[in-house]
Amino acid sequence: MSPLWNPELYQQKHRFVWQLSTDLIELLNPQSDEYVLDLGCGTGQLTHAIAERGAAVTGIDADAKMIQEAQQNFPALTFMVGDARTFSLPHLRDAVFSNAALHWIPEAGAVAQSIWAVLKPGGRFVAEFGGKGNVATIVKAIAAARRGLSLGEAATFDWYFPSVGEYSSLLESHGFEVQYATLFDRPTPLDTDAGLRNWLQMFANRFWVDLSSEQKQALLSDVEMRTRSKLYRDSQWWADYRRIRILAVKPT
Ligand code: BEZ
Repeated sequence: MSPLWNPELYQQKHRFVWQLSTDLIELLNPQSDEYVLDLGCGTGQLTHAIAERGAAVTGIDADAKMIQEAQQNFPALTFMVGDARTFSLPHLRDAVFSNAALHWIPEAGAVAQSIWAVLKPGGRFVAEFGGKGNVATIVKAIAAARRGLSLGEAATFDWYFPSVGEYSSLLESHGFEVQYATLFDRPTPLDTDAGLRNWLQMFANRFWVDLSSEQKQALLSDVEMRTRSKLYRDSQWWADYRRIRILAVKPT
């Protein structure tokens, strides 16, 4: 279940989503004669960065509001609404790129199948998203806060945070050759004193859909209290992100 995206809040307070991943474009290494797909492009900043390297790039996102914002941000680029599990395109691509999107989609096999189908033989798939252990401190604190406030269990956890082994095996089972895979901690600074609260409200609303707004406020305060010693330092909040980064090729 993806959150109800708010493109303005996303762009104002969560710029790190693309700012911390610009080096993923180095791994993609787009060439000026290439056709690239940016899967889960959000508001289009990395699509634009790929286009600036000279490649012809299309951005796809499942959220129509995000695509509208991306198109306003970068009118010269092509954006489309599409579901990563089912999309198809009229022309094959040299590369599929994806940043901070695939952890929203537990049906990773269907996504791998769609990516495979859109790649030319020899084409590459370059992605980064939440890996095993991602935001574990935050997730544990939400569960503990719900228990502590007698709010019962939250809805099921349906983010997809695979290990390197799990994700590499999945890609291999679809025919990809995995050439590079890594899992690394990337503590991520959150703006302002309300940083964790903003992050929770932007990305984690699935954990309190069943609560009243008073219960939600109590839960957020409790989560802040439980995580402060681990996630608040140098006068700011940090999300305990762990990223998986992958380069896989469709063999010729
Ligand atoms: C992430 O980028 O790792 C992430 C963002 C929102 C929710 C969960 C994970």
